[in-house]
Amino acid sequence: MNPWLVSIPLAYLLGSIPFGYLLVRIFRKEDIRSSGSGNIGATNVARSGAKGLGIATLLLDLGKAYLGVWIARHLAPADYDLQAAAGVAAILGHVYPVWLKFKGGKGVASALGVFIALTPWASLCVFMLFLVIVLLTRYVSLASIIAAAAFPLFGFYFQPQRSPWVIFGFLFIPLLIIAKHHQNIQRLLKGTESRFGSGKATK
Ligand code: G3P
Repeated sequence: MNPWLVSIPLAYLLGSIPFGYLLVRIFRKEDIRSSGSGNIGATNVARSGAKGLGIATLLLDLGKAYLGVWIARHLAPADYDLQAAAGVAAILGHVYPVWLKFKGGKGVASALGVFIALTPWASLCVFMLFLVIVLLTRYVSLASIIAAAAFPLFGFYFQPQRSPWVIFGFLFIPLLIIAKHHQNIQRLLKGTESRFGSGKATK
């Protein structure tokens, strides 16, 4: 069986598991989409008052995307293009999950999982940048946007293979993340974006 035919759908399906939605549904009997920013990601789950579930969402969203790339690598170890494509599929699964009528998250934790699998040193640099911005501003969204925008610089520096799939993955994933933050960008510009720990957020 062609590893592309297995890896890409599997990565999409793994990415599409909406852990934030499921954890809040199961443990708090609530719909996270009606709370705070309405996002199903770790930030909004933590913001809803469920800090432990927020951490679990972060780790599970990161882990599912990492696993999607890891399976591709396991099936075709020499095919880095397939790993990059599986990463894109995992992010598309998270952002457009079939189970939630294609309305998913913003892809930040999942992208970190993909990038750790594809280029760990670049991911470490971007994660440090993200942490510094969160610590300085307490805007997770701003940190996500800047980290996403910076990723291609680090990604292309640390990853010498620049095939079309790698270039596409390294540019498309950050662009999708930034596009999914369009409401956050508007709130940041208006000064109404919630800071992490303030407990408030608007859609
Ligand atoms: O990971 C998403 C984060 O950057 C923003 O989340 O809930 O504040 O829109 P939220």
